[in-house]
Amino acid sequence: MTTTEPNPSGLPDQAEVDDTIKLITDNATRVFSWKYDRERDQLVTLYNKAMASQWDSIQDLDWSIEVDPEQLVKTATSVNVTVEIAKAAKDVDGSPFATWGDKEFTDLGIESMKASLSQFMHGEQGAMMVAAKIVETVPWIDAKYYAATQTMDEARHTEVFAKYLDLKLGEAYPMSPYLDAQIQALIEDSRWDIAYLGMQIIIESLALAAFGSMLRSTQEPLLKKLLRYVLSDEARHVAFGILSLAEYYENLSEAELLDRQEFMAENTLRSRNRSTTPEVWERMGVDFEAAIPALREGATKIDQSLFTVFQRGFYSKLVPNTRKLGLLDANNGHLRKLWGDAGLLEWEFADSTADDYDAYDAVAEDRAAAQ
Ligand SMILES: [Fe+2]
Ligand SMILES: [Fe+2]
Repeated sequence: MTTTEPNPSGLPDQAEVDDTIKLITDNATRVFSWKYDRERDQLVTLYNKAMASQWDSIQDLDWSIEVDPEQLVKTATSVNVTVEIAKAAKDVDGSPFATWGDKEFTDLGIESMKASLSQFMHGEQGAMMVAAKIVETVPWIDAKYYAATQTMDEARHTEVFAKYLDLKLGEAYPMSPYLDAQIQALIEDSRWDIAYLGMQIIIESLALAAFGSMLRSTQEPLLKKLLRYVLSDEARHVAFGILSLAEYYENLSEAELLDRQEFMAENTLRSRNRSTTPEVWERMGVDFEAAIPALREGATKIDQSLFTVFQRGFYSKLVPNTRKLGLLDANNGHLRKLWGDAGLLEWEFADSTADDYDAYDAVAEDRAAAQ
């Protein structure tokens, strides 16, 4: 197609490419470092650990295990929130679920599981690109080395979630617009530390909570092992973010720190409203817009603690990790005040991932047991 204004970069515009790709422009400057001395001991340790605990998506996972999607849902040890809400909405006047029985609710459970795994897959590709951006933009050689191992980890994570969906569950869902916008902003940002803050501290704390809750719930052996291995990598990624940013933020001005505090407030208080995947309802033959009133009523009928289990998992990682960066207390406790008002400070002294990442290392654990 022709455009009247040629794109100055010489690259195509989104309108000129097909919908199997999405274009994002990164505004950060690439940094080549001539200092090869290993100056950051904790990052050296983390990098060595990452090299030693690499796993192999072909050799270490048994892809011949058969997965029955119905059993996957029925044997889960914790309830699926979407299914519980729909069940509670069944008796609401004009409910689209009035005629639903076990079969439909099980199918909804399967679709909702596929939707979650699809967001994990898309998020992992985003993480792969953000880790690659960190390789390019961070000024320290030890951090470049580490981020290169993370890029490989994230490639493996994207690959295994895509493969699990494709071989075992069926067609994936598109990326949720919320996650899409969040990751796009990190890739576009010109400040190298924002990629870290958004990915390693916020999204990966969220991933630790989401993968952890699926791991505790599923009885399916392939998914269980896959999640254990992904989690052992993710804990290192979060630790990498804390170690790097704690050093960098020590030397920023209060005004620069305020900027980061605002970023945290904006992203965390917003992520409390988890977005739905409307496509799930479409696949179930339900008009999502029309179903909203019944779903709302269903949600208020069920115990709100269903939501808080997940949120507890997220904030119990995020809040202590953020404290370690000094972001709670800069600018006279600006973020402490905002998060305090939102009731998030009860997790301030929970275990920080900078200290406990070794406890997640399922790969080392399995190798030791096999000897
Ligand atoms: Fe990952
Ligand atoms: Fe990660």
